[in-house]
Amino acid sequence: MNLEFECERALNRIMNVIDLSMLNKTDTQTFKQRLNSQFPRLFALFIDIYGDRYDCHFYLQELVTCLAKGYGQRSGALKTKDKKRLSDPLWYKNENMLGMACYVDLFANDLVELKAKIPYLKSLGITYLHLMPLYDSPQGDSDGGYAVSDYRKVNEKLGTTKDLKALAKALANENISLVLDFVFNHTSDEHQWAEAAKHGNREFQDYYYMFDDREIPDQYEQHLREIFPQVRRGNFTWNEDAKKWVWTTFNNFQWDLNYANPAVFNAITDEMLYLANLGCEALRLDALAFIWKEMGTSCENQDKAHKLIQAFNCCLQISAPAVVFKSEAIVHPDEVLKYIDPKECQLSYNPLLMALLWNSLATRKTRLLTASMQKSFEISPKCSWVNYVRCHDDIGWTFDDDIANQLGINGNDHRQFLNQFYTGRFPGSFAKGVAFGENPSNGDCRVCGSMASLTGLEQAIEFGDQHLIENALSRIQLINAVIMSIGGIPLLYSGDEIGLLNDYSYRQQQDKMHDDRWVHRIALSEHALDDAKCTTSVANKVSNRLRQLIELRKQLVVLGDANTHIQATENQHIFAYTRKSQDATFLAINNFSEHEQIINGKILGLLNADVCMEHLTATTYCADQNHIVLAPYQVMWLTAE
Ligand code: GLC
Ligand code: GLC
Repeated sequence: MNLEFECERALNRIMNVIDLSMLNKTDTQTFKQRLNSQFPRLFALFIDIYGDRYDCHFYLQELVTCLAKGYGQRSGALKTKDKKRLSDPLWYKNENMLGMACYVDLFANDLVELKAKIPYLKSLGITYLHLMPLYDSPQGDSDGGYAVSDYRKVNEKLGTTKDLKALAKALANENISLVLDFVFNHTSDEHQWAEAAKHGNREFQDYYYMFDDREIPDQYEQHLREIFPQVRRGNFTWNEDAKKWVWTTFNNFQWDLNYANPAVFNAITDEMLYLANLGCEALRLDALAFIWKEMGTSCENQDKAHKLIQAFNCCLQISAPAVVFKSEAIVHPDEVLKYIDPKECQLSYNPLLMALLWNSLATRKTRLLTASMQKSFEISPKCSWVNYVRCHDDIGWTFDDDIANQLGINGNDHRQFLNQFYTGRFPGSFAKGVAFGENPSNGDCRVCGSMASLTGLEQAIEFGDQHLIENALSRIQLINAVIMSIGGIPLLYSGDEIGLLNDYSYRQQQDKMHDDRWVHRIALSEHALDDAKCTTSVANKVSNRLRQLIELRKQLVVLGDANTHIQATENQHIFAYTRKSQDATFLAINNFSEHEQIINGKILGLLNADVCMEHLTATTYCADQNHIVLAPYQVMWLTAE
């Protein structure tokens, strides 16, 4: 097949029959222009994924209609935003960028009260706000909202669509980008598609993976891992209404969508454009690694998963180009990188950095961190990492076992050590975490806990020991300083800005007790906020130190769009890197041990200056000194004076 010729023919055929009466004259022009430039890519992807189906062209035509409708429904303000973003596509690389993630109810009760809290976000310098899923979802356990029953309906407890739109507008006025979840690997079993499937509707049964017996599920099962082994073994759930086995990678009530069916791609595109038109500027692609299933494989990170995401990206470029994708791939570091591309996901969580910061705090050593970042930190200059120290999920010990091996570290043993350390079972550990998802068949587990509890603050406060408190505060400062300066959008988790400790009350709640991630999904109470204002409180110290980092980050332009080089040093407790932009160089030196460390002064040569300025302590250093002494857990942010 001559792809170019067929593509032109397909577009001509579609344009001949498509009804664009919902668009006015200028919109028709813009739409056609964007479609013309994106269609070849979309066509190639669509043919690649669905070309062997007799009805492929029908769905392609339906898709273009859906894109036109989606664009037509976009507000004037959002169309202006589209133009603005197209003329400044790398907006997310600015040194001003600072993210926060929160559950609407835990942060502010509901959407209306959240709007009233914008001044608090402003005072912190937040420019990117990720609201955890706020859509209609089942009563009781809904996996924190990640089981969506209706993408177009806001969860009643949080407010209405009108409230959400008003909030999006208010945030935009304050230059805060709203980030919403695009939960597209699965729906809840109460979504109308699932309901229809339960009642025997063949068309909607094809929206999911449903099987009459165990024959095929058992074949798939041989190669699949289990994500939540503590709630259910295997990846399939029996549905009594439909009398079928349903593919459920996560909880029983989260039904995986069948993207081998183009009707699903189109239907989900329609939902995606609806979300885009609410006014969000980034969509977090939830569980994106799982969207394509291929017999005989792990059904994660499949080639077609990438093609599907690229196709969704293409659709956004046509109908809502102000919106970017953020990848949530919590998988092997090499696989994480494959989702990051301006034509796939412009943004991505950085789980490797996250996990290895904790590793370095536990071991006080930085070799694995340095070697891993040297291999995996660099991404397309058009994309950006989203760097975080923890999120609403558990921490899994991701790293490349080959790199670990080269350093004499056995991956499995080391993961067991980290689990022991962060659940506080390892003698001398400072951490108070909770084990999550223990798998009885292979002993795997992951870790939950708030930033403050995992860095030792909870234990130190219990012991009432000032020295331990000081150490915990320094660890917090250290890992926050890295995510603020290494390159990318730093993403804070709500409550960590004032060092909230684990909240164990979920253990008394029916719908939460079996999911230990609730230990670190903590409500931000007025009381806690008041405490953080009190100058003698520990929370106040956490907050002040963080605010100093935030202030400095915004002043140092080189912390925005610049290249990162990870620098190996001779000291195994030190993690160092430079950032270079056209006209400035920045050097960060971080001490991951609670003891003073000395490094060779030659490192200052990287700054090409006679005198250097350390910004956190406002101290100057001569570039020709023999050595530099770092205090316990000290962070140095240096530039030429
Ligand atoms: C994502 C979410 C997680 C959820 C899962 C299933 O990984 O971050 O909280 O349980 O997807 O939607
Ligand atoms: C696994 C999945 C990730 C999910 C997490 C939830 O790590 O890869 O997508 O967020 O489990 O615990």
